[in-house]
Amino acid sequence: MMSAESSVAKRLEGKVALITGGASGIGESTTRVFVKHGAKVLIADIQDELGHSLCKELGSWETISYIHCDVTRESDVQNAVDLAVSKYGKLDIMFNNAGILGEPELRAIASNIEDFKRVYDVNVFGAFLGAKHASRVMIPAKKGCILFTASMLSMICTGLPHAYTTSKHAVVGLTKSLAVELGEYGIRVNCISPYAIVTPLFQGASGILDMQNGEEKISAAAVLKGAILETNDVAHAALFLASDEAKYLNGVNLPVDGGYSLYKPTWKTGLKDYTPE
Ligand SMILES: NC(=O)c1ccc[n+]([C@@H]2O[C@H](COP(=O)([O-])OP(=O)(O)OC[C@H]3O[C@@H](n4cnc5c(N)ncnc54)[C@H](O)[C@@H]3O)[C@@H](O)[C@H]2O)c1
Repeated sequence: MMSAESSVAKRLEGKVALITGGASGIGESTTRVFVKHGAKVLIADIQDELGHSLCKELGSWETISYIHCDVTRESDVQNAVDLAVSKYGKLDIMFNNAGILGEPELRAIASNIEDFKRVYDVNVFGAFLGAKHASRVMIPAKKGCILFTASMLSMICTGLPHAYTTSKHAVVGLTKSLAVELGEYGIRVNCISPYAIVTPLFQGASGILDMQNGEEKISAAAVLKGAILETNDVAHAALFLASDEAKYLNGVNLPVDGGYSLYKPTWKTGLKDYTPE
């Protein structure tokens, strides 16, 4: 029997995608979904073993491959884009998804400036380099899709961690600014802002090592009940934005947060005795 997913049309047939941070978490799920929907995918990451084993699992070198690429190194990003073009003939989708949360010390204003810069190196400058080299090949083609993974912390502030929060605000700014510049060449630029998911990034930063414990805590804090956000949900948002169904979406920051960014809990707790006239 065909699954619901396999019975639907392949939405990225004939497209070539490069996914940074594609070996783990949201990037890994997006790799799986993109391959399932007919895209040829180049995973760019620094976790070589994970990247290679994902390729082995998902297909042959003709449809999926891995390149070691530290997004903070411009030559690595340049090589990754060039490999996508030499191997698969073009680049349609650049998903700048690699990100780090930073060391626990980054939570306070007393952060070490070097740690703060390290978060920007990956989350902002790495994302910029991905967009820069993707547009180098997309501009002559007069089409393309550039995506970023931002975060719900691009829309709200929980107070901490400063480096991560401000870096994700910058990713949204980059999305909007590039959308205007690159729109002229038919290139769409959008980003996705997920709520929390228990990935290695989240586990490392929160001290939550246990998946179930993490999911329970995340669900308890969520606005939308009855569903748990999974990496696959973010991957499907990326699928939509990368597909031709989103052909007129440009400069959008798409929240995948169950409404969390709309919610101001202090109103409820601070004014609990207030009844509107
Ligand atoms: N997990 C969450 O709660 C959450 C929520 C909102 C946004 N995000 C964002 O989602 C993105 C993916 O994170 P995730 O949660 O899947 O975590 P993850 O740790 O599972 O994946 C991050 C990937 O990025 C790679 N990476 C890190 N530094 C890199 C570098 N210098 N060069 C190339 N690759 C590098 C890692 O090796 C890893 O494979 C990040 O941008 C993160 O900020 C995550």
